[in-house]
Amino acid sequence: MLVVAGSDSSGGAGMQADIRTLGALGIHCACALTAVTAQDTRHVAGILPVPATLLDSQIELAIGDFTILATKIGMLATEDNVIRVAQRVQAGDLPNVVVDPVLASSSGKSLIDQDGIRAYREQLLPAALLVTPNIPEAELLTGMAIGNEADMARAGTLLVEMGATVAMVKGGHVGGSTSMDVVACGASDDLRIAIDALAQDSRPAAPDGTSPSLDVTGQSPEGVISQSSTSFHITTTAQGNRSEIVLTAPRVRTKNTRGTGCTLSSAIAAYMARGDTVVDAIVKAKYFVTAAIAGASQWTLGKGNGPIDQLGWNEQS
Ligand SMILES: Nc1ncnc2c1ncn2[C@@H]1O[C@H](COP(=O)(O)OP(=O)(O)OP(=O)(O)O)[C@@H](O)[C@H]1O
Ligand SMILES: [Mg+2]
Repeated sequence: MLVVAGSDSSGGAGMQADIRTLGALGIHCACALTAVTAQDTRHVAGILPVPATLLDSQIELAIGDFTILATKIGMLATEDNVIRVAQRVQAGDLPNVVVDPVLASSSGKSLIDQDGIRAYREQLLPAALLVTPNIPEAELLTGMAIGNEADMARAGTLLVEMGATVAMVKGGHVGGSTSMDVVACGASDDLRIAIDALAQDSRPAAPDGTSPSLDVTGQSPEGVISQSSTSFHITTTAQGNRSEIVLTAPRVRTKNTRGTGCTLSSAIAAYMARGDTVVDAIVKAKYFVTAAIAGASQWTLGKGNGPIDQLGWNEQS
């Protein structure tokens, strides 16, 4: 797999989190680095973007050398880098593209300028299979304010209208007893089939022909690191030519949430590299990230927001 992302010198997020995630899932990680950052678990002190020509050279060598099965695109840092990567995606050089639009750090520092955000909107998102903004990023990309689940779904639909095949608006930053993400999907038959399979809907369709919404509560699927205490709730809804999936997991009480977004998007791409559909990959990755957060909840690494347990160390001990 190819990961296009920045380095986090604290080791919790960015490329370092991506490499651990892919390692845990048995996938080799070719690394196209977009920026070197100086960070600790509390703040970002400095960013040196990699020039777009050098970034593109890393991508070119990776695709010339390996059979890339999926691509995760994280922090890009500059408009030039967004445009160069978008050209690669548009040219069909990169399969199964998951774009995690890292626009600001969790501590609030802006990681790209307005021109860069416009390039995401106009060039990269329309070429992406999946885009995974958190709520502040979804607001920046769509221009709408998001205050509740219905707004998350509306923003996801707008991102799909902007050209992404699937959009996952992450609710990690919302308080409450659960951590909920909303996935909006376009109308393709493949997506519909995958969602129907996910729902395993044995109930008859409603008289008007629409699929009833279905709630599924389950334990971690096979092949995913599991925490016996975690269970999940999946709701799928089909309305007209749009489908929506709501993924709800228990919120883990911890300050160790560094790299959750990087881990989620890498895990989605990794499951696709292993052969899953984008819909199945999203569900498995949600289990994966929740288990990784739960596994590290008691860790005391760093003075701020510490890393999560992608490698399942807590399970092994
Ligand atoms: N405390 C928590 N407990 C359970 N799940 C969580 C928690 N915090 C975040 N998540 C989940 O982790 C995933 C990443 O979401 P989040 O909103 O944190 O992304 P992000 O803001 O991009 O992360 P990052 O800060 O790494 O950029 C989502 O599936 C979210 O629901
Ligand atoms: Mg993020």
